[in-house]
Amino acid sequence: MEKLLIRGGRALEGEIRISGAKNAVLPILAATLLGDSPSSVGNVPHLKDVTTTMELLGRMGVSLTVDDQMNIEVDPSTIQDLTAPYELVKTMRASILVLGPILARYGEANVSLPGGCAIGSRPVDLHVRGLEAMGADVRVEGGYIRARARRLRGARLVLENVTVTGTENLMMAATLASGTTVIENAAREPEVADLAAFLTAMGAHIEGAGTDCITVHGVERLQGCAHRVLPDRIETGTYLVAGAITGGRVRLKDTRPDTLDAVLVKLEAAGARLSVGTDWIELDMQGRRPRAVDVRTAPYPAFPTDMQAQFTALDAVAEGSATITETVFENRFMHVQEIRRMGADIRVSGNTAFVRGVERLYAAPVMATDLRASASLILAGLVAEGETVVDRIYHIDRGYDCIEEKLSQLGADIRRVPA
Ligand code: EPU
Repeated sequence: MEKLLIRGGRALEGEIRISGAKNAVLPILAATLLGDSPSSVGNVPHLKDVTTTMELLGRMGVSLTVDDQMNIEVDPSTIQDLTAPYELVKTMRASILVLGPILARYGEANVSLPGGCAIGSRPVDLHVRGLEAMGADVRVEGGYIRARARRLRGARLVLENVTVTGTENLMMAATLASGTTVIENAAREPEVADLAAFLTAMGAHIEGAGTDCITVHGVERLQGCAHRVLPDRIETGTYLVAGAITGGRVRLKDTRPDTLDAVLVKLEAAGARLSVGTDWIELDMQGRRPRAVDVRTAPYPAFPTDMQAQFTALDAVAEGSATITETVFENRFMHVQEIRRMGADIRVSGNTAFVRGVERLYAAPVMATDLRASASLILAGLVAEGETVVDRIYHIDRGYDCIEEKLSQLGADIRRVPA
């Protein structure tokens, strides 16, 4: 298994480009299945989760071509097998995103149940209940969700919890249903809005994406289209924290500052100077140590759970104390034990971490447990004294495009070594 070696202590400086958003490209690749003709998806990041999605579509018989710019062309017309098998779904929960599209387009779908994962039980009951309310017959057999529907019917769906992929699955399914679907308590994440933009370009009629009430007027058919994926706000936030934690100055281009309001407010509270344009952000810490900031995660537009671990690392070396409250996932503090091994003073009680900032962290061998946890360990390594070894970095490759190259470009001492 490959590892990352990080020698801490350098203030990061320089400019990097932000890649397309993981959590937008995955639903968009699934949505290509709704079309009668090929779609082309651009600004695709180099990520393991993208490769896994391509493998999933390929196993179904869908034709895919990728050019040297990572534009992916998907031709769904060659589809043969309406199944998402366990061996792929277990490695990537987002595989559940093919359920709505294949059921709506082909009248049948067999998708393995994802099961547990490192950040909690993460059920998919709301996806299933929504499809049932639209007239699907859904059974769970042999660990698979088997859904059937001649044609889905529009329905009023009130989601019990805000769910991002649940909202996306139901919005995609509704595009080809007969009649109108209203999704209340919908997720407002920018990735939901980007998916809606893709579906609209295919010919779907969608109103309200980006708000908590989405209305979809079903149409008979959708055509393929061309779309560029929106920039990754979590990748952006992670590099901003890398600048802040090291007392550095970083400029990120090809991003969307308007999708990061809650994160930028916290970085300013931590003492960062920010300048922002329509597609760039510059953070200048002026060599200062960050101040501790309280964080409470909640669905967009509140502070994202996908930035919680990175702010835990920031607070671990900040001046003062802070509390970090996780309200989205029940078990998302796996990084805390690892950062503590580097000398951090953090206590977890229930869904809250109490962090007392220390002057210095010390390098240690640490282990990544999930994608964002891995990012927080790398951030801690950037300021730790000595050489931090981060193991199990396959987690990081799922969601960060060339992380060691981008950090090196900003002056970090980081390298990847084979096992
Ligand atoms: N939930 C249910 N029932 C459901 C669906 C969700 O109870 O049917 C609960 C979950 O257990 C959780 C909450 O609702 O407590 C929110 O989960 P959500 O469904 O929104 O999460 P998700 O759609 O599985 C996406 C992102 C995650 C991100 C979350 C929250 C994708 C592919 N994944 O997951 O991204 O953390 O939304 O914003 O979009 C990551 O990128 O590292 C990552 C984990």
